[in-house]
Amino acid sequence: MGLSFTGLAPESGESASPDAIRQAVERRLGELLSDTKESDDPVSQAMRSSVLAPGKRIRPVLLVLAARELGCRVSALFDLGSAVEMIHTASLILDDLPCMDNASMRRGRPTIHRQYGEDVAMLAVVALLSRALGVVSEVSALTPGHRTQMVSQLSRAVGAQGLVKGQYEDLHEAQKSRSVADIMVTNRHKTGVLFQVSMQMVALITGIDRAATESLERFALALGQAYQLCDDLGDGDAAQGKDVDQDRDKATLVNLLGPQEVRRLLNEQLEEANRHLNAVYGERSAVNDFLKQLFSLS
Ligand code: IPE
Ligand code: IPE
Ligand code: MG
Ligand code: MG
Ligand code: MG
Repeated sequence: MGLSFTGLAPESGESASPDAIRQAVERRLGELLSDTKESDDPVSQAMRSSVLAPGKRIRPVLLVLAARELGCRVSALFDLGSAVEMIHTASLILDDLPCMDNASMRRGRPTIHRQYGEDVAMLAVVALLSRALGVVSEVSALTPGHRTQMVSQLSRAVGAQGLVKGQYEDLHEAQKSRSVADIMVTNRHKTGVLFQVSMQMVALITGIDRAATESLERFALALGQAYQLCDDLGDGDAAQGKDVDQDRDKATLVNLLGPQEVRRLLNEQLEEANRHLNAVYGERSAVNDFLKQLFSLS
């Protein structure tokens, strides 16, 4: 891509901790957005400050860990992870807008529309989505066929049957009476599909077979459910760096079933995620260790 990447040495045999991967992802994001650094244009500044604000980088770390564990160590993984993180950040800017969750804090900072205005926030969303697809379409280490497939998978994950659908349902279905299954479908769209597409890209770049690809996708969807439930359980926690009690009027499973039942469901989803993960990696894997850390299990 004509940019120098100073992350983990590509194709070296070194193993990398999730934290080292997270730092390398952040360096790559900074490089991919380097044109926004000196810019005094507010949209560029909003893109940069939203993406480089302290997020947990769970999706790119998972993507890189999952691919490395299958023997793929190319630096292109960091481009794919960065693209997913740009899409995720765009979804957060949108989610925070006054017409959506009307949030005032994100990643420990005032939300992007509060810093730059709603017009700039919306334009930064469009620019980040577009940049993300551009990054994937330009990864020279991929075959043209893989690039096209990945761009297509990402565009589907964002689109009217993906994140957009989940967000719409989250905002508009709360007034109706909703079943557990309905809410899980919404959570799949708003959160699961981005984990799923990360694993689809891992499958393509590593060349694993169809059965392993399906296992990785199922793993990602169960993890997405668990992750959203975890987020919903933390809605009253100020330490998350975002507004508390955002879900008061939402049809979340915590509101429907209460926290105790949601903790049980969360464990069920985590067990399912692990079952599919183990089908690909066996009982012990770096991905599994990362998840234990993420969900504070021992
Ligand atoms: C928040 O995602 C939105 C959900 C899908 C629950 P993260 O918890 O990954 O947010 P950041 O990236 O760390 O800010
Ligand atoms: C997360 O929904 C789904 C997104 C794609 C943004 P939330 O509305 O629960 O996310 P937070 O809690 O604001 O991060
Ligand atoms: Mg929301
Ligand atoms: Mg929100
Ligand atoms: Mg939430």
